[in-house]
Amino acid sequence: MMSEKKTVRFIITRQDHPDKAPYQEEFVLDYRPNMNVISALMEIRRNPVNAKGEKTTPINWDMNCLEEVCGACSMVINGKPRQSCTALVDKLEQPIRLEPMRTFPVVRDLQVDRSRMFDSLKKVKAWIPIDGTYDLGPGPRMPEKKRQWAYELSKCMTCGVCLEACPNVNSKSEFIGPAPLSQVRLFNAHPTGAMNKDERLESIMGDGGLANCGNSQNCVQSCPKGIPLTTSIAALNRETTFQMFKSFFGSDHMVD
Ligand code: SF4
Ligand code: FES
Repeated sequence: MMSEKKTVRFIITRQDHPDKAPYQEEFVLDYRPNMNVISALMEIRRNPVNAKGEKTTPINWDMNCLEEVCGACSMVINGKPRQSCTALVDKLEQPIRLEPMRTFPVVRDLQVDRSRMFDSLKKVKAWIPIDGTYDLGPGPRMPEKKRQWAYELSKCMTCGVCLEACPNVNSKSEFIGPAPLSQVRLFNAHPTGAMNKDERLESIMGDGGLANCGNSQNCVQSCPKGIPLTTSIAALNRETTFQMFKSFFGSDHMVD
């Protein structure tokens, strides 16, 4: 008796243009061991024929590092936002459903525009301003314990998964979301970055800032890098309360 060929079924949400309506297209591929979602998408790209045997257009998606470092390949896989480069076909229930993250505008198919998150990083000044015109020598040192937790926060790859998982980040809300908030905590903790601490805290005290967090805890559960996002938000809540008093009474009377 001939054994049936093992296949993998995909149902992919497609969208031809940002203004066009989304639709679904099904694909069936031959199974190969160790297949991941991106290798399957690449195979479809090489031979864009859908499950009905019709020739179709290749699927669009973003990718870069292929090792869960760049954050570009995030999409919703079987209902869960995650990276497609580390989503192994063997570990996924079939049919495998691929959709774009909906928190961000769709560019085409599974490719989204994550500018919203990068704009928020600009808004909170998520960088350390240094004069690069001459050799500054070694930077100030951080106590080892602090360096360790700062390193955890620095693992953020701006993948957008925590924003997608958060019920309060959407097109109707200005909320910047967990990742940019956590970066405020990271850059404020840096000895040089602390020079702009007040500015960063002020930037998250208004509309779209900390107050928009509904404490759903979805972010911390979804972050592929295990970043303690809710701990960062709680710490920032304490710091902004202090900042409020500081600006109210004047910094000269308060100890930082
Ligand atoms: S905090 Fe985690 S989930 Fe959010 S963007 Fe950074 S790496 Fe992705
Ligand atoms: S391609 Fe970089 S995280 Fe997946």
